[in-house]
Amino acid sequence: MRKTKKKAKAETRHRRQKSTEPQKLIAKLSPKSPHSELFRSVRTNIEFSSVDKVMKSILITSSEPDSGKSIICANLAVVFAQQGKKTLLIDADLRKPTVKKIFPGAASHGLTGILTNKITISEAICETDVEDLYVLPAGVVPPNPSELLGSEKMKQVYAELYELFDQIIFDTPPIQLVVDAQLLCSFVDGSILLVRSDHSSRENSKKALEKLQSGSAHVIGSIFNDQKMKMEGYYYAN
Ligand SMILES: Nc1ncnc2c1ncn2[C@@H]1O[C@H](COP(=O)(O)OP(=O)(O)O)[C@@H](O)[C@H]1O
Ligand SMILES: [Mg+2]
Repeated sequence: MRKTKKKAKAETRHRRQKSTEPQKLIAKLSPKSPHSELFRSVRTNIEFSSVDKVMKSILITSSEPDSGKSIICANLAVVFAQQGKKTLLIDADLRKPTVKKIFPGAASHGLTGILTNKITISEAICETDVEDLYVLPAGVVPPNPSELLGSEKMKQVYAELYELFDQIIFDTPPIQLVVDAQLLCSFVDGSILLVRSDHSSRENSKKALEKLQSGSAHVIGSIFNDQKMKMEGYYYAN
């Protein structure tokens, strides 16, 4: 039977997505590249950002979508794992999940399955082809993401994961649009505001920072993405 044009187009898009998304894991594919070196320097800055507190769990958010949160979280997770730390990347963007696209081998169920008592933590966590790196995909997109992320169950799950891993990274939705990152930032060790040049206005970044602070976040710094520097890429400041 002949495929309709629409179906063929959708399949091509799907194939393209499958084959290009993993390419964005530069820290895995080109560990000696200057960009991977930048991710390692962000890792070092995170580790030394607080003298009193170990930055075992961090959250990255931004004021708006498409700032590079997901891709930066994934690459950071790779460099933490490459250091020999048992690392977990959690897709807490339950509205626009991306971890499953970056790690196509991960299962379709995930965090929402745990929070709705459909699966256990160990059933939901997926191994990756990077040694010491595990991912917890978002799972089925729920109708009530903020309710799930702000629940007592989420706190219990977080406490269990905190014991199981050396490093946890939360990928979250934009803090200006929804309350989810604000809910999570109160219990992670440190929060980072991502600012992408030409995407994030100074005003919006300021408001995003205020939201993190009003959520009782321990803000440890900012990552400036896509800066037009001598070498384009990522830059960390605190
Ligand atoms: N520094 C960069 N240079 C080029 N493309 C980038 C850069 N940062 C992010 N992107 C691209 O922008 C898009 C959105 O990134 P993503 O990580 O999904 O953003 P968010 O999670 O903030 O919505 C992706 O296609 C990603 O590859
Ligand atoms: Mg994202």
